[in-house]
Amino acid sequence: MRITGTGHASMRIDTAAGSILCDPWVNPAYFASWFPFPDNSQLDWETLGDVDYLYVSHLHRDHFDAAHLKRFISKKATVLLPEYPTSQLEDELRELGFTSFLRTRSDEVHELDGGLKVMIQALISPTDGPIGDSSLWVEYDGVRVLNQNDARPADLTRFNELGHVHAHMLQFSGAIWYPMVYELPENAKTAFGKQKRERQFDRTWRYIDDLKADHVFPIAGPPCFLDDELWQFNDIHGDEGNIFPNQSVFLTEYAKVGGNNGIVLLPGSVTELSDQGATATTTHPTPIDEFFKNKKQHLEEMRDRKRPIIEAEKASWRHPEIDVLKELKKRIEPLLEESIYLAKGVGGPVRFDLVSYDGDEVESIVVDFPGKQVRPYVDEKVRYRFRTQRELIEHLIFIDEGDWVNSLFLSCRFSAARIGQYNEFVYAFFKCLSEERLQYAEGWYDEHEKSVDAEDIQFGDWTVQRRCPHLKADLSRFGILDGNVLTCQLHGWKFDLPSGRCLTGVGHKIRASKTAENG
Ligand code: FES
Repeated sequence: MRITGTGHASMRIDTAAGSILCDPWVNPAYFASWFPFPDNSQLDWETLGDVDYLYVSHLHRDHFDAAHLKRFISKKATVLLPEYPTSQLEDELRELGFTSFLRTRSDEVHELDGGLKVMIQALISPTDGPIGDSSLWVEYDGVRVLNQNDARPADLTRFNELGHVHAHMLQFSGAIWYPMVYELPENAKTAFGKQKRERQFDRTWRYIDDLKADHVFPIAGPPCFLDDELWQFNDIHGDEGNIFPNQSVFLTEYAKVGGNNGIVLLPGSVTELSDQGATATTTHPTPIDEFFKNKKQHLEEMRDRKRPIIEAEKASWRHPEIDVLKELKKRIEPLLEESIYLAKGVGGPVRFDLVSYDGDEVESIVVDFPGKQVRPYVDEKVRYRFRTQRELIEHLIFIDEGDWVNSLFLSCRFSAARIGQYNEFVYAFFKCLSEERLQYAEGWYDEHEKSVDAEDIQFGDWTVQRRCPHLKADLSRFGILDGNVLTCQLHGWKFDLPSGRCLTGVGHKIRASKTAENG
């Protein structure tokens, strides 16, 4: 089996029974904020795109690159489709010209021609990616690979059941706007960033330890930021609170916890798995140590090359003819009317400050969740406040974007302030700005609320519900007790056991009681 690195989360898997191209991403995503690093635009995409199977893990734009899929990927390829609750991924791929689909069933092995086996595990909670994220398991001739991608399964049991995995590809770096965009004192931001950076690594070690593969490939990030406005987000400024460590930092940190089986793939690197998967031989287009030593220079050169692309994108965002308040009212109010769980979860008004083109004026609009309306801001307390350029919202309206996480928020082209804890419902709502998605999310929360989590486990003196109140991670694997505070390492949420209170997010009480002493 041969694995070719094609940048970010993308790779091509070649076997004698066929080839699979995963998540090819080349063009900038999220308002021209994210680019793949190292640059993969020079690869021979005509050849790489001539494949038997295509796997697009989910609809995030650093995995689903419509222009690239349309231009370079063979339409004869059969799409290996995760089992998602909505048909959006299939619909969008059909629009690009793909006609052959294998609709997989989550957690079921599918045998393809020539003895190639695949299994896709689909995660489908409203907080998983753009409602849906997935991992791909592949087996050929006794060699097994798990492309976990940036998916966060509660555990890897299902993959372990299928036999020893030889190669494990997974995310280790950040892919979010927290904490950089928050209006916080610099030292607080650094402290939160540092915590987040550590948590990302801890979670990665946990997954690696769960699977115990022979070879570990750090993939799916970090992206790079080439617009001058976002340049500070690249991890080249010696900021210990930067959440975007690169693959060479991964190798250093991994070595500190005893890991010596990490393999970095640059675009164009090739790993051959032989000896039934036990041996990996990798060749790189350029020595990786030297490459990452010169990261800043590579980024600067890339910035010069990509500047015209960024400028062209920026020129397309302004639509002065759009009445933003009127349009948001028209689109969002019907959804507020239908929303029960998300609206209740947000629980207060959310304010958007839109800065005019020249930066002189600010229009403040409130999405009032309890009042179920979109209206001008009046002097009032709000739960969240976002500040961004007016043209970005105009563009979202213009293209009728139904997922503001997969566009505005991931762009990091905004700042934010909030009162109290992180509120997942705010972001869940703004990724559900369509009837189909909103209904799905509401239904999911409805079932979730009603499900009784009866199983308990022991933590020292405590009896605690087994499944994490956040997204059901198995706390017997992910839970760590420190005093009376239980931390679930999957997303780092903390729970105060005596009160049951979640210390990280709104709601999400945990069931816990002191175990009665024997005798
Ligand atoms: S499942 Fe997210 S913190 Fe536990």
